[in-house]
Amino acid sequence: MQILDQPEDTSPAISYAALIEKIEILRSTLRWSSRLERADIEKLLRQANTLRDEVMQMSHKERFVQAAVAEPVRVEQSRQARRQGLLERSFIFEGTFGDNPRLLEALEIAEKAAPTDLPVLIDGESGTGKELMAKVIHANGSRPDKPYISVNCGAIPDNLLESELFGHRRGAFTGASSDRKGKFESAHTGTIFLDEIGELPLAGQVKLLRVLEAHEIQRVGSDEPIAVDTRIVAATNRNLRQLSEEGRFREDLFYRLSVIHVTLPPLRERRDEIPLLFSWFADEAAGVLKRRPVRLTPRLRDFLLSYAYPGNIRELRNVMYRISCLAGDTADMEHLPVDMRPAITTPAAQGGARAAGANGASVANLMSLSDAKRAASDEAEKAFLERGLHEVGGTVAELARRVDMNRSHLQMLLKKHGLHSKDFRNHASKESRDDSEEKEAG
Ligand SMILES: Nc1ncnc2c1ncn2[C@@H]1O[C@H](COP(=O)(O)OP(=O)(O)O)[C@@H](O)[C@H]1O
Ligand SMILES: [Mg+2]
Repeated sequence: MQILDQPEDTSPAISYAALIEKIEILRSTLRWSSRLERADIEKLLRQANTLRDEVMQMSHKERFVQAAVAEPVRVEQSRQARRQGLLERSFIFEGTFGDNPRLLEALEIAEKAAPTDLPVLIDGESGTGKELMAKVIHANGSRPDKPYISVNCGAIPDNLLESELFGHRRGAFTGASSDRKGKFESAHTGTIFLDEIGELPLAGQVKLLRVLEAHEIQRVGSDEPIAVDTRIVAATNRNLRQLSEEGRFREDLFYRLSVIHVTLPPLRERRDEIPLLFSWFADEAAGVLKRRPVRLTPRLRDFLLSYAYPGNIRELRNVMYRISCLAGDTADMEHLPVDMRPAITTPAAQGGARAAGANGASVANLMSLSDAKRAASDEAEKAFLERGLHEVGGTVAELARRVDMNRSHLQMLLKKHGLHSKDFRNHASKESRDDSEEKEAG
């Protein structure tokens, strides 16, 4: 057994967490030692003495303040550890991204529920990833290579619903010109995903309940039962419990479906994931659009970080695809959909936003996509430079540094757009520093 070398010097900043760690190292060294040489014992003794001294040095206050400060770090680690744990257990994420504790909790429930074949009810606002979660459950279940059939209960007209779900016999109704399999039969041995289950009419709910109870269906126009072995995952953006209290959703069906209940939080309640999702979707869009991942101006980034995302992750994803398509290297406010842009913008931005808003909407209709992209990219570039110059008070060198761009290239761009840095001078500092560039740029 090798004795771990702990630093023996007493560091001036003793942290409670570091002390605990040292104690743990000592303990495990002792626990796993089968034999200790005298020298090792001396070394461990010295470490123990140092530890005792450090503990003595630490006042009560320090202990608790330091421990409290260390807390967020521990939370971070445990998030990573939880995601890592899922990875190590070969959990299939199906592209589900994020490590917010509430998402991790949903994934951990999915992990446990997946192999059981118990019905799962997923609820959450539109765009929170319910369908993705259903795929995760299927992929991690005992039937991953069997069919996965998705049905949107809200999109089927009432009179066709039964036939869609359970199939029909030829001649069962006008237009039933041949025998037809329903979704349940197609999903036999696999998973059926019943999306927007809250929209299922009461008549359909009764039929569904029977399938859940008897594991068999009857095609419309036939009384022959057909056994189906299908794992059911249902999703809704409604409050099913409340619907059942109002008599609009059968309570017994609710309980049947929600043996395992997973709730996906709206994006505004897991904002910590937004920056990660930006880069995730920027990379994804870059791959699809065969471009470099789009960059965001600080202004756009700030806006998108504080935006409410009523459409949740779907909306964020769509925005990243949109700006990746419309912007050049860097996207700015004018690449946002008009209805998403803030009502009040700074004067500098208004020019750009107006240009892209007024022209942008029609430009996209009238020109070819590549023209529209070029136009939007030029607008974005100019607005970006204007705003940048404004922010740095006309100091080109500073702007070049902030946007990580070669200075002469930046000056070339200023020329291209007819921008003069001196027009953005404010009375603030930095003037002398930038005098030389002003001449070059002018
Ligand atoms: N955690 C996530 N990580 C990556 N993409 C996600 C995540 N949650 C949702 N998405 C994506 O957002 C979009 C909407 O998700 P979806 O499952 O259709 O939502 P819902 O069914 O709740 O309306 C899809 O493109 C999906 O892939
Ligand atoms: Mg959906």
